[in-house]
Amino acid sequence: MYTNLKDKNVIIGVTASIAAYKSALLVREFIKSGANVKVIMTKAAREFITPLTLSTLSKNPVHTKFSTGDEGVWNSHVDLGIWADFMVMAPVTANTLGKMANGLADNLLIATYLSARCPVYFAPAMDLDMYHHPSTTANITKLKEYGNIFIEAGFGELASGLIGEGRMAEPSEIIKFISNDISKDLPLSNKKVLITAGPTHEAIDPVRFIGNNSSGKMGYALAKECANLGADVIVISGPTAETVSHKNIKVISIKSANDMYNSVHENIKNTDIGIFAAAVADYKPKFVVDKKIKKKTETLDIELVPTQDILASVGKIKTNQFLVGFALETDNELENAQGKLKRKNLDMIVLNSLKDSGAGFAHNTNKITIIERSGNISEFNLKSKQEVATDIIASVISKM
Ligand code: CTP
Repeated sequence: MYTNLKDKNVIIGVTASIAAYKSALLVREFIKSGANVKVIMTKAAREFITPLTLSTLSKNPVHTKFSTGDEGVWNSHVDLGIWADFMVMAPVTANTLGKMANGLADNLLIATYLSARCPVYFAPAMDLDMYHHPSTTANITKLKEYGNIFIEAGFGELASGLIGEGRMAEPSEIIKFISNDISKDLPLSNKKVLITAGPTHEAIDPVRFIGNNSSGKMGYALAKECANLGADVIVISGPTAETVSHKNIKVISIKSANDMYNSVHENIKNTDIGIFAAAVADYKPKFVVDKKIKKKTETLDIELVPTQDILASVGKIKTNQFLVGFALETDNELENAQGKLKRKNLDMIVLNSLKDSGAGFAHNTNKITIIERSGNISEFNLKSKQEVATDIIASVISKM
């Protein structure tokens, strides 16, 4: 599942190679990731895999000809080319490579290729001598010059029985390659982001704890935003009902402030951006009772001691990390938030005021003010937490 391929419009071009059977798997991989797939085949490709297989898997009719049926319905190559977010030519025979390189639009696939304004990936499949023929090499070079993206053939046993280069890349490699390629130009690609999220639970005895109402929604929304912008994200999460499934997000589940402290310090060194959205308990019981406390007395005193301030400890050792803190305040909001920004050595602090209805814990919305190290202050309207995450990350990117 590659979430950056969700809702992408993909044209898969299939040509007459024995590797055409792998196109079925490729279509399925794209569909599993939530992409919309249309397949265009050359006439000869139908000898290798049926349009019915590919139309069933892609959930769309497969196009082969410029027009369909007796009524003369035009399969507009122009519309198909414009519809696509990208085109994947897999497998590409030596013949189709030559046609692509020279603009020989004698079939719907090449006409669509020439009309497409989107990135085009091509994964050749042929016998080893054909693959190494100077004309093939020259055509591949030409296509790269046109800006098309080459997915190299692999080494192995070929349909001819010969062993060498020419096997089409496996569908799982092709989709991974494309997903990575799409992310590479994103603003946070190659950036590592660490996010703390949710509450912490400070144990009193084996069945009880001190906690708070943080839902983790804000931290998880920030994680999704960063991952969708290409970052590798680690979420260090206290107990929450939130879940996330994204190939760029790793969740480390912890319970207490002490666990969160340790996990943050294990991971902060290679981090570019640290976002501290967790509502960490400020105090924890001095002693954790190892057996369930029985109801024997009228009152029960629990002595509390401070937890470590995780963000302040990172602020002390930070090198190049861009640090973002949160401040949830009920009064003297700006002053308190500015004080935390300085005290914890932050680059930015996100203020939520509990005076604003719809802001803070457990809501799906939030109203924030962003205060930068420079003193710059930006106020935002009440928005969904996902939209708030977009605003916060846009501010971080603009300051980095
Ligand atoms: N924070 C942290 N570790 C703690 C307490 C807070 O990492 N033990 C982080 C929070 O994740 C947040 C920022 O510090 O990003 C500010 O948290 P907040 O609770 O508002 O501030 P405190 O410093 O705890 O001050 P107070 O509770 O007195 O307002």
